[in-house]
Amino acid sequence: EKEKDLLGKHILITAGPTVEAIDPMRYITNHSSGKMGYSIAEDAVKRGAEVILVSGPTHLECPAGVKRVDVKSARQMYDAVHEHFEWADAVIKTAAVADYRPEQESNHKIKKNGNTLMLNLVPNPDILKSLGEKKTHQVLVGFAAETENIIDYAKAKIEKKHLDFIVANNIAQAGAGFKGDTNIATIIKANGEMITCPQMTKSELGDIILDQVKNYFN
Ligand code: PMT
Repeated sequence: EKEKDLLGKHILITAGPTVEAIDPMRYITNHSSGKMGYSIAEDAVKRGAEVILVSGPTHLECPAGVKRVDVKSARQMYDAVHEHFEWADAVIKTAAVADYRPEQESNHKIKKNGNTLMLNLVPNPDILKSLGEKKTHQVLVGFAAETENIIDYAKAKIEKKHLDFIVANNIAQAGAGFKGDTNIATIIKANGEMITCPQMTKSELGDIILDQVKNYFN
């Protein structure tokens, strides 16, 4: 039994991938399983928090006591997150949001005709950045999935998205990133302070992230 040190706190977490439809049978997505976000949601509930989990499509069961809001596309995730932003004391964005979507979703199955098929992609809204621009009291935590220059790229995201801290993980490293039960991460705060998190379960990392979030509550 964990200490209820987050009793009554409202924590909004996003998890999983987004899927961006091409036509009724095809879509663009990524490798996120949702495990990182679901683990944090479960940790937070055990510590007494109220948790809303905005989730892209995953195969995971919703942890007991967590309120899950299911979405598919980045734009749906944007709407769901903004709908609950006022309520939140902290927002933790583990979701792997698609940066681009097909410009048009075809109502009919696109038929092959032997020619090259061009797919125009347009940028999706940056959900975290939009929260950073309107935040008042919320603690804002981002994730950074990188394969090179991890720390520099993650630091740039802290500034661009007005975050309190970011959790950077190297998705090309064994034991880290997508799908598995463990992660390897560096927590980087807006003031430059860093906390190195060696390989551990996603649930253990979740508790370290929540310890940090707690420091920002007064
Ligand atoms: O789900 P798992 O299989 O357990 O895998 C976990 C994970 C690898 C997905 C997770 O640890 C992780 O790194 N999540 C962030 C993935 C990501 O999209 O990173 P990014 O560097 O592209 O985005 C930076 C931040 O901005 C993220 O917090 C992201 O949620 C947010 N973002 C990105 C794009 C966008 N349009 N809107 C956003 O809010």
